[in-house]
Amino acid sequence: MSQEMRVLVTGAGGFIGHHVVKRLRTDGHWVRGVDIKAPEYEPTAASEFELLDLRKFDNCLLAVRGGVDAVYNLAADMGGIGFITANHADIARNNILINAHMLEASRLQGVRKFLFSSSACVYPQAKQSDANVAPLREEDAFPADPEPGYGWEKLYTEMLCRYFREDYALETRTVRFHNVYGPLGTYEGGREKAPAAVCRKIALAGDGGTIEVWGDGEQTRSFMYIDDCVEGLIRLMASNHHEPLNLGNDRLVTINGLVDLVAAIAGKYVIKKHDPSKPQGVRGRNSDNSLIRRVLGWEPSTSLEQGLAVTYAWIEQELDKAGRLRKRKIAHA
Ligand SMILES: NC(=O)c1ccc[n+]([C@@H]2O[C@H](COP(=O)([O-])OP(=O)(O)OC[C@H]3O[C@@H](n4cnc5c(N)ncnc54)[C@H](O)[C@@H]3O)[C@@H](O)[C@H]2O)c1
Repeated sequence: MSQEMRVLVTGAGGFIGHHVVKRLRTDGHWVRGVDIKAPEYEPTAASEFELLDLRKFDNCLLAVRGGVDAVYNLAADMGGIGFITANHADIARNNILINAHMLEASRLQGVRKFLFSSSACVYPQAKQSDANVAPLREEDAFPADPEPGYGWEKLYTEMLCRYFREDYALETRTVRFHNVYGPLGTYEGGREKAPAAVCRKIALAGDGGTIEVWGDGEQTRSFMYIDDCVEGLIRLMASNHHEPLNLGNDRLVTINGLVDLVAAIAGKYVIKKHDPSKPQGVRGRNSDNSLIRRVLGWEPSTSLEQGLAVTYAWIEQELDKAGRLRKRKIAHA
């Protein structure tokens, strides 16, 4: 185990933050978790957990009070493609406030390392217009043409991290996640992402049933399992690499392919009903992992089949606990 640290995880009530807290506690660190909401699916493992709205500067100062060595800043107003397409102003405003205030509060309180969770949404849209897309390298982010709203805010905060490092010597780390999935992630309500939405739809469908798929389903993505995401974050924080770094899987799959994989795991035959009126984001997106291999000597390796099997089982169990699978079985009886 590395030396015990005092760590702040923002967004600790959310998907990635909750898993990061668990890992840091297992590694023996003292962890303060902060979020605007408590974790939904199981109690936090944090040493202490506080409900704070981090859009307010005073709350950011409270969050980093008392001597914090490292900050994992994972709080953000975000969701799947439907949510980020429909909420440009709220997302851009809320996240820029959280990030600018968290950087400044961390600087004032003498934090040593600050991790910013950026996104593959920073990459230019023109480089993602083909389903058979070339994997995106870190330097592809400029000249800039990111995802409206969410992507612009992430790219701007990447620059802000650089300025804080250059002007104030705050050690910043910037990670660009590519679609993270796994148990304890949001699976309904509008903020869920494709893997969780597909698992939910298939769990609720009968064998031979129909599920809705956004677009023609031929759009492509890569998906990273949560354990790989957490491992990559810990390794990046321990490294000296301060430029933005892709953290993702580099296996490209179509959304139709994703549906087929989950259907196979569920042991169901499902009919796909495509809805071209629904947002599908860029046509194709994949992670180039050359740099992460070089700087961390490591890359995500959990197979999609393994990761989806665990995720599907968890979502099915949640729906069952809520009595929703039984209701469906009775309705189909
Ligand atoms: N999950 C992915 O595939 C993915 C991909 C790219 C980037 N990211 C980034 O990773 C980070 C974590 O994402 P996640 O998947 O865990 O999302 P999440 O929505 O599960 O977690 C984000 C958390 O931030 C909290 N939050 C929002 N506004 C807040 C506020 N004003 N004050 C305090 N807390 C607030 C939310 O309540 C939520 O619990 C975010 O920065 C996100 O943009 C995630």
